[in-house]
Parts: sequence; structure tokens; C-alpha cells
Amino acid sequence: MPALNRIAAFADDMTAWRHHLHENPELLFDCHDTAAFVVAKLRDFGVDQIHDGIAESGVVALIKGQGNGPVIGLRADMDALPIEEATGAPHASKVPGKMHACGHDGHTTMLLGAARYLAETRNFRGTVALIFQPAEEGIGGAKVMVDEGVLDRFGIDELYALHSAPGTPVGHFYTTPGPIMAAVDTFHIHVKGVGGHGAMPHDAVDPIVAACGIVNAIQTIVSRNHYALDDLVVSVTQVHTGSADNIIPDTAYINGTVRTFDPRVQEMVQRRLPQIVAGQAMSYGVEAEFEYDVGYPATINDPAKAAFAAEVAAEIGGGVNAEAGREMGAEDFAYFLQHRPGAYLFVGNGDTAGLHHPEYDFDDEAAPVGASFFARLVERLAPVEG
Ligand code: NI
Repeated sequence: MPALNRIAAFADDMTAWRHHLHENPELLFDCHDTAAFVVAKLRDFGVDQIHDGIAESGVVALIKGQGNGPVIGLRADMDALPIEEATGAPHASKVPGKMHACGHDGHTTMLLGAARYLAETRNFRGTVALIFQPAEEGIGGAKVMVDEGVLDRFGIDELYALHSAPGTPVGHFYTTPGPIMAAVDTFHIHVKGVGGHGAMPHDAVDPIVAACGIVNAIQTIVSRNHYALDDLVVSVTQVHTGSADNIIPDTAYINGTVRTFDPRVQEMVQRRLPQIVAGQAMSYGVEAEFEYDVGYPATINDPAKAAFAAEVAAEIGGGVNAEAGREMGAEDFAYFLQHRPGAYLFVGNGDTAGLHHPEYDFDDEAAPVGASFFARLVERLAPVEG
């Protein structure tokens, strides 16, 4: 497998770290044990500074190179998901209802591998800032780190991150210049009718028929309201109502997700959704409450940084697609890239179940590849002269 020799030499250690993390998943901001493990390893490696307790359980560590140079941020997310693991692996989660189903155990391991190599070799100028972040899954640990001033406090000039990619061969990478992951918003609709007997609909105001009308009408936002060449997804993902075959319920709840890249498209959806809900509610004689929550912004790679990172990935890996195109998924690394240039790349994870699936397991063969990428990226961004 392609990797720096020194990192390949401690691949077994990385596998052990990854299995420990996989067995002990933690959710959202509660990554305290994970952070303690990370801090202990960083101490062993002899990094120069360790700052913990950032965004509750995040860690930032610094490794100084030779002489002046840029401060390069490398970020790994640490949190797991509320899923019951079904891999049957010997290192499966020991915590019921929690598992590393998005490979963040692998991301943390790759960054630890890079830290060990960089602290040992120091074959670069400037400083590396290793960022171990909690709460990527849904509530924006990256935003809290940015809000707590991580970028200014450590003088970070540019930032990079890797995410595992099931379905892409181990040793391969992909990224894209410009926008790579979408902005994600959510909406919630509470339809209020008047319940009654299923046999006497004339005495009720049926929220189910109204909810169906709202769900159908929402489909016209993508098909009728927006320019066909812009990227947009509006998906209704939950409808909850009813309790029995012979009861017309009082209320219905509708939730969904909106994925965009262009703020103008996002504004259009934010304007059209409540108009449609209000119009449909009036036509069915129900009341409807509407809520729209703006979530992670789009993740936008700096085109030059992404191209350079892809070059480094090509040197390390068995193949790289530098123009893979954008995806409608979302990622809170977006908040870092709103403030500093950098790039987000995917690292192949082979033939496994998909992300967020109970049978997904990070491929340990990918860990030395990702660690080598981070390490080589630093050496090439800030090479020591002569
Ligand atoms: Ni993830």
C-alpha cells in the first residue's frame, strides 16, 4: 500500500489506536475519553503544545518545524453516531446504541499518525496545528471552535481535512476545486386540523390530507421555481401523524432537508416554502406552523489549495481524481473554510458498507495512506530549504 515508509512501519500501532477508538465511541460534544486518548498519544509523540477543552472536548496541538513558515491546520473529527453497530467485528463498539459509522475513528487515527511522524522528523518550516474536533455530526463543533477563536489564537493560515470514502479503492483520493459539499438546512411543519371519527370526516378538519397536499406542493420548488442548472435538493424526509384506523388525528408533522450551494437558491427556498405551506393550509382549512433552520454552509475548497493537495495525494496514493465534482452531503469543516483557505479531500475506504450504515467500518489499510498524505502535504507546503 502506498505510504511513507516511516509511517508504514508503525501501521500496526495505528490499527490498535483505531480499534480502541472504535470500541469506545462518544457522541457530539461529549468526546472527553476520546480527547484524553488523543492527548496521551500526542504527549508520547513529543508535540510542542497541547490545548484541550476547546469546544468542550476538542484538542489543538502544535508541532514546530525548522524556522519560520506558515501555520498549517490539519483537522480530524472525533465523534460517533447514535447507531447500533452490526459489523460483528472483534473491535465492535462496546457502547450500546453508539458506533463509529462515519469513520471519524479512522480520521482521528490518520491525524495521530501524521502527528507522530511530524513530531519525530520535523522536516518542514513553520508550525502544524493539529485540530481534533468534536460534534461534526449535526451540531457544528467546527463552528464552536471557530467562535472560540481557534484560528486567530493559533494563527492558522490554511486548513486541510480528510474524510473516508467507501466505494473508492484504498490508496485513492478525490477532491474538487471550489464547492465540494452542500449547505444543509432543515424545515419543520406542524399542521393543525381538528380530529374526529374516521367515519365522519365532515365533522373533522383532516390534517393528513392537508399534509399530503403540502408534501406534493413542495415538490414544485425544484421542478418549477428554480433554474435547472443550479444544484438544489428539497426532500421531505419525515411525516408523522395518526394513531388508529378509525381516527382522524388532530395534527401532522412534516420535516425535511434542503441542500444548496448558492445563497440565492437558498433564499428562494426559504421564501417559497412558507408561501406554499400557508397557501396549502388555507386551501385545506388547517393551520400550519413553519420553522426553517439554517445549518452548515457549503464547504468550498480553495481551487489552488485543492489542486496542490491533489498533487500531494497523487504522490502518496494509487490514484487521485482532482475534479470529482460536488456532492449534496454536508460537512462542518465548511466553517473553517469560510475563514481560511484550504481543501477537503476524500480518502478511499474500499468495498465497505456506506457511511452512517450499521455495518460500516473504517478500513485500517487506509490509515497509513491518509497519515502519509497529511505528513507529505506539510513537507511540501513548507519545505526546508537545501
Ligand atoms: Ni463524517
